[in-house]
Amino acid sequence: MREERPLARISLFDGRDVWVVTGHDVARELLADPRLSSDRTLPPFPAITERFAATRNRRIALLGLDDPEHHVQRRMLVPSFTLKRIAALRPGIQETVDRLLDRMARKGPPAELVNDFALPVPSMVICALLGVPYGDHDFFEEQSRRLLRGPAAADTEDARDRLDSYFGSLIDREEKEPGDGLLGELVRDRLREGEVDREELISLATILLVAGHETTANMISLGVFTLLRHPERLAELRAEPALTPAAVEELLRFLSIADGLLRVAVQDVEIAGTTIREGEGVVFSTSVINRDERAFPEPDALDWRRPARHHVAFGFGIHQCLGQNLARAEMEIALRSLFDRFPGLRLAVPADTVPFKPGDTIQGMLELPVTW
Ligand code: HEM
Repeated sequence: MREERPLARISLFDGRDVWVVTGHDVARELLADPRLSSDRTLPPFPAITERFAATRNRRIALLGLDDPEHHVQRRMLVPSFTLKRIAALRPGIQETVDRLLDRMARKGPPAELVNDFALPVPSMVICALLGVPYGDHDFFEEQSRRLLRGPAAADTEDARDRLDSYFGSLIDREEKEPGDGLLGELVRDRLREGEVDREELISLATILLVAGHETTANMISLGVFTLLRHPERLAELRAEPALTPAAVEELLRFLSIADGLLRVAVQDVEIAGTTIREGEGVVFSTSVINRDERAFPEPDALDWRRPARHHVAFGFGIHQCLGQNLARAEMEIALRSLFDRFPGLRLAVPADTVPFKPGDTIQGMLELPVTW
């Protein structure tokens, strides 16, 4: 596919042919093009797995909407995710990270880094931000897992139903007595004013909770694994901690954990000498796009000194990740603090036995056994 830039053709599991965007320039142009829709309820919207195909009858907030509806929801949330708001959360994130590292130090070595660290960091942070009780984390982490990679469509459906009723009761509670988290704020300022309805709010809360912990957890676990596999890059980072933000950006590009963003053309689009016809599906392979040598020379090298911020690991255009400032802050604090605290951190098992998540979902690790 990398040789077939900027557009390739592939057949999906159901035999349907779709475009795969592989070139960086074309990707950014198309992701910003309103003629490509994110509305998965449209019949020609492409499905990359059977599970996805069976669950796309429901509208999902934000990610599944086009403008102008999308803009109305996005505008409500943006103020909570600005750089300034996220900067104010940093001391709290640091405290959470330190507490988890203390616990790891008391219990180990060894440790299982996914469950002891990579997952609880973003999970605790998004709970505090939303005003969701972290005590419920076993429940919502399990439902997120089933939602994103349950073995069958029924799991995805059931997980969504359970999350819907969970958030339904949290909203009931917030309606009686709004808390000071984002959910309480949305109930007080938006639901009561009729700017958003209950069903939309439930869908928004689910997206924020699921997107807010799964993705970052995967980046932390895969980021640690990648650093341990590139000791010379890790040494560079240790010697010059100011490189951490650049390293996070490069890891986002290099790992591209959210691969396969989906759209459908709702009008013909001429691009790069080709016409994407109305009704045709378009898949953005972020992992291939982020290794386009015209945008990132020597793309397979991990290099903290390259400009990497134009990667599309957070998408691009109107759906570009709402939580990116938060994700960056969490990754910087988590990676820096982990390696400071455990300078001798290493894998506790051979690298080729570490289990990865399956290919049809957001990339990450199932377990990461480490010692120090
Ligand atoms: C490293 C971690 C993360 C990665 C790689 C990531 C990746 C992405 C990508 C690729 C998209 C665009 C999807 C598309 O265009 O179809 C997206 C959207 C989104 N992300 Fe993230 N994300 C991360 C962390 C977070 C966090 C921490 C939150 C917290 C709230 C979050 C919330 C969202 C939301 C709400 C959207 C939808 C935005 C919209 O449709 O307007 N993400 N993310």
